Amino acid sequence: MPLNVKDELKAPANIARDMQGGLEAIETASRDEIANLQLTRMKQTLQRAYDHSPFYRKQFDQHGVHPDDLVGLEDLARFPFTVKQDLRDNYPFGMFCVPRNQLARVHASSGTTGKPTVVGYTKNDVDMWAQVVARSIYASGGRPGDMVHVAYGYGLFTGGLGAHYGAEKLGCTVVPVSGGMTERQVTLINDFKPEIIMITPSYLLSILDEYRRIGLDPRQTSLKTGIFGAEPWTNAMRQEIEDAFAMDAVDIYGLSEIIGPGVANECVESKDGLHIWEDHFYPEIIDPVTGAVLPDGQEGELVFTSLTKEAFPIIRYRTRDLTRLLPGTARTMRRMEKVTGRSDDMMIVRGVNVFPTQIEEQILKCTALAPHYQIELTREGRMDRMTIMVEATIEATGEHEMSTSSKELAHHIKSVVGISARIDVRAPGGVERSAGKARRVVDKRQSG
Ligand code: DLL
Repeated sequence: MPLNVKDELKAPANIARDMQGGLEAIETASRDEIANLQLTRMKQTLQRAYDHSPFYRKQFDQHGVHPDDLVGLEDLARFPFTVKQDLRDNYPFGMFCVPRNQLARVHASSGTTGKPTVVGYTKNDVDMWAQVVARSIYASGGRPGDMVHVAYGYGLFTGGLGAHYGAEKLGCTVVPVSGGMTERQVTLINDFKPEIIMITPSYLLSILDEYRRIGLDPRQTSLKTGIFGAEPWTNAMRQEIEDAFAMDAVDIYGLSEIIGPGVANECVESKDGLHIWEDHFYPEIIDPVTGAVLPDGQEGELVFTSLTKEAFPIIRYRTRDLTRLLPGTARTMRRMEKVTGRSDDMMIVRGVNVFPTQIEEQILKCTALAPHYQIELTREGRMDRMTIMVEATIEATGEHEMSTSSKELAHHIKSVVGISARIDVRAPGGVERSAGKARRVVDKRQSG
């Protein structure tokens, strides 16, 4: 797909920056070079974890493995997994490999269930993180001197500060807006004229609504690229966003346990999945049930081992995200396919496995429906029921149109996904909004 670079931004100054910038050498290194570097770093990481973390020492000892057992990269499979519960059990700082006074920063998950999970960074970790985010912004089309509007939340969530440090490192002008106050987001975009926005895809849709509400054309903004992540989103959503804003929409992936945003990023020239920054994060795909490592190309659960982290090296962390590994294209590092969903978000409705992203794709096929949605699961008798709350577009709020689009969506879902869903088409604004990650599934079924 051609780049949506807007004519007015093709100034000579931009071209000069292109030539100055360029890729880091490792981004185009051979597979052998990458593998050699990974092996050296993996050995160091295992040793560091074993020497400095009582948690890892105990884990390795119990599994009868020692860092010296790693001879080749494939030997990593002999080491035990780490899971979210391990972080909870060692709350707050029990898994760290440096004394508390050497931490430059901590972040934490929101902790909606149980204790929050806390992660820590040394000064070097913060620098490495900024480097991978800078690389991600560059891959997305950002260049030194660009202005970056950061609408990921600032605070314990890694999105805002992670994006911020990376954009500064690349030499951009950062506007640290954070999430929320949607009217002000629009004002700042119009007045400051940023080239780049970093934001969750669902929150960008709220900003889009605001543009339409005040009668401004979102295709006329200064934005040339949006860097979207923190939640699953489909290629159909990419199309919707690119058309609405006349900008490129690229995918950024990450999780706090590994570092935050910037573990992997799409390249704007190919938009074909996310290149994993494999010099810092080693990926594996496993069968979520047996734990066996699967070959590249096969879908399963993504597992990461950090290769350069100091404060909180993480060995074989089970992300619960489902995807597959693909060979490099625009870069030599391997890609991960857009995440289909988290295994936690998979809904089993009358025996059929469904992800919210599958529903999203069907909603976006219906032109009279807006892309805001939430899925509610209830149990009636012994039957699971799925209700999809979705909004009509402003132009299609008539009773007849809403009933037609409800039938259209039910039909698509039945024929493509294979389940009968109840469709609740609401007036614009009728579906819950979030200024960060959207809550796609509300499960009201009683457990047991
Ligand atoms: O969401 C870090 C982040 C911030 C990534 C901003 C990208 C942009 P956590 O709050 O720890 O960290 O949540 C991590 O979010 O395991 C995925 O399930 C999901 N996720 C993150 N990025 C993507 C993406 C941040 N691009 C969890 N596509 C991960 C799909 C994503 N899911």
